Amino acid sequence: MALLPILHYPDPRLHKVAVPVTRIDDKIRKLIKDMADTMYAAPGIGLAATQVDVHLRVIVIDVSETRDQLQVLINPEIISAEGEKECEEGCLSVPGIYEKVTRAEKIKVSALDGDGRSRIIETDGLLAVCIQHEMDHLVGRVFVEKLSQLKQKRIAAKLHKQQRQAM
Ligand code: NI
Repeated sequence: MALLPILHYPDPRLHKVAVPVTRIDDKIRKLIKDMADTMYAAPGIGLAATQVDVHLRVIVIDVSETRDQLQVLINPEIISAEGEKECEEGCLSVPGIYEKVTRAEKIKVSALDGDGRSRIIETDGLLAVCIQHEMDHLVGRVFVEKLSQLKQKRIAAKLHKQQRQAM
């Protein structure tokens, strides 16, 4: 089991834009395994490759209570999105910060799974929120950047304080 270091906001590498995976080979399979191990150990419900400083369109998610329903999304694309919903989000790259974010309520996404099979996911609820949150990471967006300037300033101050205390 290999745990990967997770980048912490405001690390500029979190703003890199990931490129599509062109071939699912042993290197990608190892990345998926390591990302899943890292997500479960954190513990978290989702992790994008961007967060472990690998800039490929790969996401792992598990929103199940039993923590045994791993979903791998390679090259995910939103086909359609409907409605709006506000939900409290957190992020392994922004520890200790939980804020309400508005996203589409229902989405339809195409992606490849870990074996390269193409799949369509139609979902709402927590999985829809999680997929949108992780897909944002792949284009270099962190959820706190969707908040007001005032909230972002407060969060920056809080994170700065946390980092000082950790030293
Ligand atoms: Ni995140």
